[in-house]
Amino acid sequence: MLAPGDVQVAPSILAADFGNLAAAAGEVATATEWLHVDVMDGHFVPNITIGPPVVASLRRHSGARFDCHLMISEPARYLEAFKDAGATSVTVHVEVGGTGALVATARRLGLEVGIACNPDTPFEAVEPFLADVDLVLAMTVFPGFGGQSFMVEVLPKIARLRAAIDGLGIETVVEVDGGIDETTARSAAVAGARLLVAGSAVFGDPRPWEAVERIRGSALRAIAEGAARGPS
Ligand code: DX5
Ligand code: ZN
Repeated sequence: MLAPGDVQVAPSILAADFGNLAAAAGEVATATEWLHVDVMDGHFVPNITIGPPVVASLRRHSGARFDCHLMISEPARYLEAFKDAGATSVTVHVEVGGTGALVATARRLGLEVGIACNPDTPFEAVEPFLADVDLVLAMTVFPGFGGQSFMVEVLPKIARLRAAIDGLGIETVVEVDGGIDETTARSAAVAGARLLVAGSAVFGDPRPWEAVERIRGSALRAIAEGAARGPS
């Protein structure tokens, strides 16, 4: 999923022009393999976005890794549809429950799988699943909308996820989502995040591919500086 020590940016198409998603995918294709797809059902979150038909259409225009973030109350009903549509990974929220079964179903379908937690959901809610998933997504805003401010109070949870994963000696990727830009990417990366979702900071930039490179560079530098400084 990610090489050890690597950091990648997953641009969120939530901040792109929904009337021209193929172009948005193309704008970041040289900068990253990833594309973050925010799926909202108007029930788990107070907003509605896109579903499997749009993912299938976009798949015809993009070879990216589709990182499908399912902010929906009943993911079990749709996992197969996302697989058929061309999802690479599906990430389900632990708040909806039934996480073990959802992870097993996604695996059986041949999908990579992640679990997500809201800013106020404790570390303990995701801890039991860390060894069974490919990624764990710590929301740094309350899900539903792009353009919100990064919540620094989530940083200790990110650090606990990093420590737990390193302690287990597993490769589970720590992903963050919400309010990521060149500055907040540094804090998230130093805390232990390695896959950085960014919507507004990427597609709000006239040159989205450069924004991806800047966010990634900023995170990598922050990690290197932290390593050079050593434990404080
Ligand atoms: C929020 C979504 C995010 C969102 C991030 O519910 O899950 O992926 O697109 O957008 P920015 O980067 O603008 O906070
Ligand atoms: Zn998201």
